[in-house]
Amino acid sequence: MDVLRYLQKKARAVESEIDRWLPKGLEPDILARATRHLIEAGGKRLRPCLVLAACEAVGGRAEDALETAAALELLHTFTLIHDDIMDRDELRRNVKTVHVLLGEPMAITAGDALFAKVFEATAANARRLGMGGARAVELFDAISKASFEICRGQALDMLLETRADVSEEEYLHMVGMKTGALMEASTKVGALLGNGKPEQLSALADYGRLIGMAFQIHDDMLDVAGEIEKFGKPIGSDIREGKRTLLVVRALATAPSEEKRRLLGVLGKREASEAEVQEAIDVLKRTGAIDYVNEKARRLVVEAKSKLDVLPDSDAKKALLELADFVVKREF
Ligand code: IPE
Ligand code: IPE
Ligand code: MG
Ligand code: MG
Ligand code: MG
Repeated sequence: MDVLRYLQKKARAVESEIDRWLPKGLEPDILARATRHLIEAGGKRLRPCLVLAACEAVGGRAEDALETAAALELLHTFTLIHDDIMDRDELRRNVKTVHVLLGEPMAITAGDALFAKVFEATAANARRLGMGGARAVELFDAISKASFEICRGQALDMLLETRADVSEEEYLHMVGMKTGALMEASTKVGALLGNGKPEQLSALADYGRLIGMAFQIHDDMLDVAGEIEKFGKPIGSDIREGKRTLLVVRALATAPSEEKRRLLGVLGKREASEAEVQEAIDVLKRTGAIDYVNEKARRLVVEAKSKLDVLPDSDAKKALLELADFVVKREF
């Protein structure tokens, strides 16, 4: 199976659904631009694909989960817009970030508007399927809880920036929340909309959280070792912001004191020169931190895939297995 083609095919249906919730003619026009800017710039559409694949993997029809799949991409977009303000990032999906283009007040408003649409689109899905009360409550509960967990993860992400003694467990806890929670919610709501059995829901939720954690570890690795044209985001941004990524956590725990001193000298230095950032990246490479995090991400993917053993064989299950591998192989 060609996983990129699978993603593209599912993405097309999701994109027309997104247009229904965020029409180009939305007024005022500035809000249409602010909410649609990143969506029009592209993106992998991984979370809606997880919704649709999970729905099919439990025997449901992808069409029955379309509004919610779109909703989870809107939720993702909301978190990206606000995240770029928090992280002071100027580039995403190879285009200027929303706050750079339209200012912080409009970017904040666009995020809030997207968040509101998440619940409107999900409600439309539940209504269209004539979902019973208890299941509909579960659907909204999963999305609300994930939204709150993302906030906890983002708060912790910022809090850890000032500490030199962050442990691997703390990092994993943080990324489980900031990134794992949304992928967990994606597979869970997909399974719910597909009328999955409780054990299928729980297996798919675990799978989503684990690939989410692997996704973030790999993404943090690309932030230092990726290529900007493919990645679409600035390289070295986490170093300038002082992020305690697993790379940094590992290097600080294992590097000789001279290397550690050099790394700490650049971490969090917003005005660091290209050469200084490169020096910090070189420390991460020399200490073997990159190999270490790649292995950690790979193991999480193996664990995630094993959760799917409870599902019957299907094309959707195959896609989920391949998506798990894709998460740690991708260059973008
Ligand atoms: C970016 O997610 C945010 C992280 C969790 C690192 P993606 O890499 O899925 O972003 P797009 O949607 O493809 O741009
Ligand atoms: C990803 O945060 C999680 C959220 C956006 C909630 P990052 O800050 O690591 O993601 P990128 O690198 O900006 O995409
Ligand atoms: Mg960021
Ligand atoms: Mg961030
Ligand atoms: Mg990042």
